[in-house]
Amino acid sequence: MKSIIIKNISKIYVQANTNFYALKNVSFEIVPKEFVVLSGPSGSGKSTLLNIIGSLDSASSGEILINGEDICKKNSSELSNFRLHKLGFIFQSYNLLPVLTALENVALSLDLQGLPKKESIERAKQALSDVGLANYFKSKPKELSGGQQQRVAIARALVGNPELILADEPTANLDGKNAESLIAIMKSMKEKYNTTIIASSHDDRVITQAERLIKLRDGEIV
Ligand SMILES: Nc1ncnc2c1ncn2[C@@H]1O[C@H](COP(=O)(O)OP(=O)(O)O)[C@@H](O)[C@H]1O
Ligand SMILES: [Mg+2]
Repeated sequence: MKSIIIKNISKIYVQANTNFYALKNVSFEIVPKEFVVLSGPSGSGKSTLLNIIGSLDSASSGEILINGEDICKKNSSELSNFRLHKLGFIFQSYNLLPVLTALENVALSLDLQGLPKKESIERAKQALSDVGLANYFKSKPKELSGGQQQRVAIARALVGNPELILADEPTANLDGKNAESLIAIMKSMKEKYNTTIIASSHDDRVITQAERLIKLRDGEIV
C-alpha cells in the first residue's frame, strides 16, 4: 500500500428532518505499515469511519484515496474486488461462520479468490499456526474461547496478505490477558506481513500500543 488519504469525509443521517453528522469533515493520512488506532467514546463515529474506509458503507461527501484512487467513485464490482484482494476485516464479534472449522473459515477467502484448494489449505494452516492455533484446525468456533476465535479472525484477515487491515474494537469482548496477547499478535503479524492496520478502540490496553492515535469525538477529529 502506497498511501491512504482520508479527505473531508462527512456522513450525514437524517433524523426527524434534521441532519445529524456521524462524521464531520474528517481528514487524515496514514503512513503505510503503521498501526493506527482510532479512539473515542461510544457514538463518536469510529465504526462509521472504518466501514467507509472499507467500502462497506458510503460517505455523504469526501474522498478516500487509496494508492491515489478514490474508492468512493468505484462501482460495486470494483469495490468487491478491492475488499477481496486488498482488505482484511476484524470485527468485535469475530463474525466467524459457525458451521465451518477454523481452517475452513480461514481458507474461505482464498477459495473465493480462486486459489487452488490445496494452496488455500496450506496457507490457511500457516496463518493459523502464526497466531498460535496449530492445534485447532478442525475446531468449530463454538468449541473455541473468545480469544481463540478472535485469533482465527486475525488469521482469516491476514491469509490473503492484504495491504490494509481494518479492526473494529477487536478486543471489546476479551478479558485483559486475552486483549493484550491479541494486540501483541496483531503487531507481530503486521511486521511479518508488512500490513497497515487501522483499529478502533476505547480500550487503554490497545490505545497505549498504537503507533499513532487519532481521537474522534462527536464525529470530528480532536
Ligand atoms: N444507520 C444509522 N442511522 C442513524 N444514525 C446512525 C446510524 N449508524 C450510526 N448512527 C449514529 O452515528 C453515530 C456514530 O456511530 P458509530 O460510528 O457506530 O460510533 P462508534 O463506533 O464510535 O461507537 C452515533 O451517534 C450513531 O447513533
Ligand atoms: Mg463502533
